[in-house]
Amino acid sequence: MTAEYQINGAVAVITLNNPPVNGLGHATRSAIVDGMQKALADDAVKAIIITGAGTAFSGGADIKEFNSPKALAEPNLHTVINVVENSTKPVIAAIHTVCMGGGLELAMGCNYRVAVAGAQIALPEVKLGILPGAGGTQRLPRVLGLEMALNMIVSGNPVASEKLAGTALFNELIEGDLMQGALAFANKVADVRPLPKVRDIKIDYPNYEAFLQFSRNTVKAMSGPFPAPLKCVEAVAAAITKKFDDGIQFERSLFIELVQTTESKALRHAFFGERAASKLPDVPEDTPTRPIKSVAVIGGGTMGGGIAMNFANAGIPVKILEMKQEALDKGLATIRKNYENTLKKGKLTQQKFEQRVGLITGTLSYDDIAQADIVVEAVFEDMGVKETVFKKLDEVMKQGAILASNTSTLDVDKIAAFTKRPQDVIGTHFFSPANVMKLLEIVRGAKTGKDVLATTLALSKKIKKTGVVSGVCDGFIGNRMIEQYSRQAGFLLEQGCLPEQVDKAIEKFGFAMGPFRMGDLAGNDIGWYIRKRRYVEKPEVTYSKTADLLCEMGRYGQKTGAGWYDYKPGDRKAYPSQVVNDMIVKHSADLGIERRKISDQEIVERLVFALVNEAAYILEEGIATRASDIDMVYLTGYGFPLFRGGPMFYADTVGLPNVILAMNKYAKGPHGDAWKAAPLLAKLAAEGKTFN
Ligand code: 3HC
Ligand code: NAI
Repeated sequence: MTAEYQINGAVAVITLNNPPVNGLGHATRSAIVDGMQKALADDAVKAIIITGAGTAFSGGADIKEFNSPKALAEPNLHTVINVVENSTKPVIAAIHTVCMGGGLELAMGCNYRVAVAGAQIALPEVKLGILPGAGGTQRLPRVLGLEMALNMIVSGNPVASEKLAGTALFNELIEGDLMQGALAFANKVADVRPLPKVRDIKIDYPNYEAFLQFSRNTVKAMSGPFPAPLKCVEAVAAAITKKFDDGIQFERSLFIELVQTTESKALRHAFFGERAASKLPDVPEDTPTRPIKSVAVIGGGTMGGGIAMNFANAGIPVKILEMKQEALDKGLATIRKNYENTLKKGKLTQQKFEQRVGLITGTLSYDDIAQADIVVEAVFEDMGVKETVFKKLDEVMKQGAILASNTSTLDVDKIAAFTKRPQDVIGTHFFSPANVMKLLEIVRGAKTGKDVLATTLALSKKIKKTGVVSGVCDGFIGNRMIEQYSRQAGFLLEQGCLPEQVDKAIEKFGFAMGPFRMGDLAGNDIGWYIRKRRYVEKPEVTYSKTADLLCEMGRYGQKTGAGWYDYKPGDRKAYPSQVVNDMIVKHSADLGIERRKISDQEIVERLVFALVNEAAYILEEGIATRASDIDMVYLTGYGFPLFRGGPMFYADTVGLPNVILAMNKYAKGPHGDAWKAAPLLAKLAAEGKTFN
């Protein structure tokens, strides 16, 4: 039973009770129909209220049921809404907190709707690659008008209930207790006949054809590879061009079409992946967290400044510690400038600007940060410097403070060992620019306390990051994988490609930026520095020397005005470089390699399957908890195309046996050792299974 049935005088109250968001799964749908039948059969009942327990009226259809028999099992959502709409007694939806998707569709099937202020009203289906499939596209235009409904359906964004007061969506906005107000409303309308139905409302929009054509053009231009937004326009168009029942049929057919698309499956995967990432099997959900009311950041450079901004944006005061006044002034000035730019663009109010800038202060003294609840170290990437800093932190920080390092390559366990409190040490690997990028890799040391992990995961949500936990290894999840991708990119250059061909092929696949444009943006010297270490530590791993030759030419990327591409002053556009292309061709000749024409398909397969194979090792070693965590790292930190769901999800859609087939083909070529299949990948492929 996932809905409760109660009688209050002459009113039956059906309360959805399916935590956490009263999703309309099969059991809940059945319980609503049962409640309706009970109320209709009871002569003492004159009106029926539908509401939700806990923190939602309803978050909509149960997304977990999609593509399973349960989604269509009777009573399906259409049947439930038909039962409600055909009721001979008035049905009132009493709405609070969250009323979304199928929840809003159910509410629009009711005769009346009352709500309290502050409820989030939305048809967010488009964000899951689908469209409202239970009448939302036909009923919302009838209550809100064509334009507003179209905006809400195409964007999927929530609108606060009080902003919709005065529309036909709400009959009353209730002040005070919702249930008391709803009961009073129900008693008032109990005998009113005929019963009003949203389906009977006429949409008045004389020049609708021009509006719809304009909408089609705009939405098409904005929706990229996703088919759903344009289908939303078509469905809304049907609300005005077709009879109600035909419109419902049309909407249904589009819904069925969309729910089966890979794009929709990818978006749903990302929705659940984001939420799964904050859960660790051995850290119970009720693990106590430590309060975080103040933050310290050590080092106000590129990363430290961005990291500090995240906390200030969330209203948490931050102290930045630098060694010299000059560096501190520079760091604080950069932060101020960043906020000023946002202010100038109109994306920040003056009040918020002042508040945020005011929350970030600087110091040169460790005494000033000793009471911070968490300290994030972002000093130079050098174990000696980290040692000095962590020994000092161990000495001065209050007991219970979390000691976090933003290191991108160093061993967090070694850093923890510099202190006498390794349980308090954790890695927080932000991505550059740290105030913009969504990803936060949370590096779990061997001794990191569970409460420290739980606190850091909660904190990542607070600062609006996607926190993904990684074990300790060279490069953690993201950079360890990208190394294999970069190696392939280098080999492609040796064998016949030029940078722009590789970048174009992978950008066409959907990556935000190809490896060479990315290298120029991040700085090619970073990879050079890491490779030089590898040549000593892991001489058996082969790399193309083209990237080293590039750095020897002083072409570090945009910061030196030249990298894989040429740049013009004040212009970030990458222009193919004759000098670099000549260098690449000459290097092939020096190696005695006969350059060949390489297809875009080969480029994409070699780059993406290199990621997938390394990810399989990462998963097998327990560095990542689950395949979807790896997908979240790539979707939020590396520009992997969302519509493909992340590398692991993509490999699943290609079929793991096909991935192995392609890898075996490349294993026969030069540097074939890179294509040794990870045991987990080979095993899943042989068993016909998937990662996710
Ligand atoms: N179905 C199944 N589970 C859902 C769900 C849904 N519609 N909406 C949320 N959940 C689950 C989440 O997976 C999460 O589960 P977990 O605790 O096991 O990780 C839990 O509910 C809480 O979710 P959030 O962490 O997102 O909680 P918030 O309080 O931050 O947000 C929310 C609540 C605003 C409802 C947000 O979860 C949300 O936007 N949900 C999606 C709403 C949606 O897209 N609805 C449309 C569904 S499709 C539909 O209705 C089709 C119909 O037209 C036929
Ligand atoms: P940066 O060189 O821009 O900034 C480092 C800052 O630390 C400088 O302002 C310096 O004055 C200060 N500093 C050095 N030693 C100090 C000490 N003992 N006490 C206090 N301040 C000190 O370096 P960046 O790029 O910000 O990197 C910082 C850390 O973040 C490194 O560990 C790096 O590996 C990591 N990282 C860097 C990324 C990037 O893209 N730049 C991405 C992710 C992680």
